[in-house]
Parts: sequence; C-alpha cells; structure tokens
Amino acid sequence: MLTDNITRVKKDFSKDIADVKDIGDLEEIRIKYLGRNGIISKLFDQLKDVPKDDKPAVGKELNLLRINVTSQFEKLQTSLASEKDEKESKVDLTLPGKKYQIGSKHILTQTLDEMKSIFKGMGFSIHEGPELESDYYNFEALNFPHDHPARDMQDTFFINEDFLLRTHTSPVQIRLMENMKPPVRAIMPGRVYRNEAVSARSYCMFHQVEGLYVDTDVTFAELKGTLVAFAHQYYGKDLKYRFRPSFFPFTEPSAEMDITCFMCKGEGCNICKYTGWLEILGCGMVHPNVFKSVNYDSEKYTGYAFGMGIERIAMLKYGITDIRIFFENDFRFLKQF
Ligand code: DAH
Repeated sequence: MLTDNITRVKKDFSKDIADVKDIGDLEEIRIKYLGRNGIISKLFDQLKDVPKDDKPAVGKELNLLRINVTSQFEKLQTSLASEKDEKESKVDLTLPGKKYQIGSKHILTQTLDEMKSIFKGMGFSIHEGPELESDYYNFEALNFPHDHPARDMQDTFFINEDFLLRTHTSPVQIRLMENMKPPVRAIMPGRVYRNEAVSARSYCMFHQVEGLYVDTDVTFAELKGTLVAFAHQYYGKDLKYRFRPSFFPFTEPSAEMDITCFMCKGEGCNICKYTGWLEILGCGMVHPNVFKSVNYDSEKYTGYAFGMGIERIAMLKYGITDIRIFFENDFRFLKQF
C-alpha cells in the first residue's frame, strides 16, 4: 500500500537526516529522496494505482511528505553552510601585523635638495639643460681646443659626429648666458656621462652641480667666499679647506677646492693617498673666450664658475668609499639615509 510506503519513507528520512555530518552527506540525501529518480518521485509514480476515491487523500499526504522533506533539507543546508563560513573566517587576532616598507628619497636626491637649498639661500636660481648635447655646447663654446684630450672617444659617449652625451654640466652655462643678460646667478644640476672603466672611483653616469655668477665686478674673492660658505653649511663649521691652482679651458685662473679627508681627518690614509686632503670641486673665473661665445662683453663683465660631483660630495660627507653603490638599489644601503 502506498500509505504504508509513505510512512516508511518518513521514518527512513528522519534517520538518514539525523546522520548527516557535512554538505557532501546532505547532497547524497537530496539525490536519494528528492532527485528526479529519487524515492519521492517513485512514490508519485505509484499514485496511478491508487483507487480513485482514495486518490485525493493519498495525493495530499504525498505532497505533504515532499514539502516536509524539502524544508528539512533546506534548513540543514543553510546551517551547514554558515558553519563552514564561520570556520573559514576565523581570524587570529594575535598574529603580528604586516610590515609595510615606507619609501624615502634616494640619498643623491637628498644631497641635491640640500645643496639647492644652500645655494638658493645665497641668491642662486636653478636651471637645467639637455643630457644629449652638441659638440658645440659641450666643448667648443667652452674654449676646448680641437685637440683637447677630453674630446677623445675614450671619455665621451658620441652619438654621431655632432652629438654626444654631455660629459659635464658646464654646457648649461652657455645655454643660460645665451638666453639672458647679466646678472646671472644660477646653479645647474643634472646627469653627466663618461666613457670610463667602471670602478669604485668612477662610474659611466653620475651627477654634477654647475654654478655660475656673472655681473660687473665679480671677483675671485667672492668665488672663494661663496664656496667656503657652502662647504661650511654642508659639512659643518669646523671644516678645513684649501684652494689649489688648476686648469680648465673655460676658466682663468682656475682652482680646485680640497677639504680635509673624512677618514683620517688630515692625518693621511689610503683614501686621501696620504695627503690628508680630498678634492671636492673645480672652479675659476669665466674665460673671456667663453664670454665671446655668448656675446657678453668681457671688458664690462666678469664672472666665476664652479662644478662639483654630487656623488662625490655625498661620499665625502657619509664616508662612502664605492660610487657604484649609489646605483645598485640595495635596500641595506638605501635605508640608512
Ligand atoms: N666641468 C668640470 C668637470 O667636469 C668641472 C668644473 C670645473 C666646472 C671648473 C666649472 C669650473 O664650472 O669652473 O670636471
């Protein structure tokens, strides 16, 4: 009899559902009872054999069974799913937090920023020029003779006969003077390139800051005063320095400025080659031929210029002995600044 079967199925289902442990078990039960060929569907098939008078009552009972089974199934499904969610979203609040790396300015940028602010304080403006330069600006207009060794293929990255990667920031002096009348008082920072063997002391690319002051009656004493003021502000008041005569095609007279060795404090060591001194920059009074290239009247105007390597300035301040380390992006180095 179908009614007996219905009663049995009710019992079986209660037992089966009580044994369910997880979603997998539950799915098996769904297929067994509610699937297309499941037990309940088979009971419905038997309805056609029930005597006509009994059909409405038995049919109703069968429907109730299906509703009942479906609702128990759904209830259990919801509770199993939320249990699973709870397990997965358990957060361990005692775990240590994630450490985020905070970026900072590269030491060369910091050094340049400091240099800019010192020179700005002395009335210098800031200008930049191109890294791809012509032979004219890099050499010719700066009074380099045609056979000067600096033009040699070994030092200069030539692009073609006329263009090259600038070997110093001095060409920006020319570009600036071409575009303005004296007084000119500016520093010109930027990248420069040299075709030299890479070593602890030299790199194929580095940075320079060029300085220029042109006006009536500019003197060598002003040049010295400005550079000493810079060195004292940057390295500290007790810094010792000296100026040595030197040669550059674009200045006359020319000099180099030395400061006491950071390593031995002037005693003499292998860093300063046992002299106690380290060179920090080149400088001099602008050569009349340079004024001629930019149509400045050298009878009326005088001026001074200087140029220094930013890497070198930073190396001497922090005691860095290998220039290559600036460009290796090694966190152990970078995060010290
Ligand atoms: N341009 C020179 C160099 O790269 C540095 C320099 C020396 C610049 C003397 C100057 C200067 O303006 O007057 O070695």
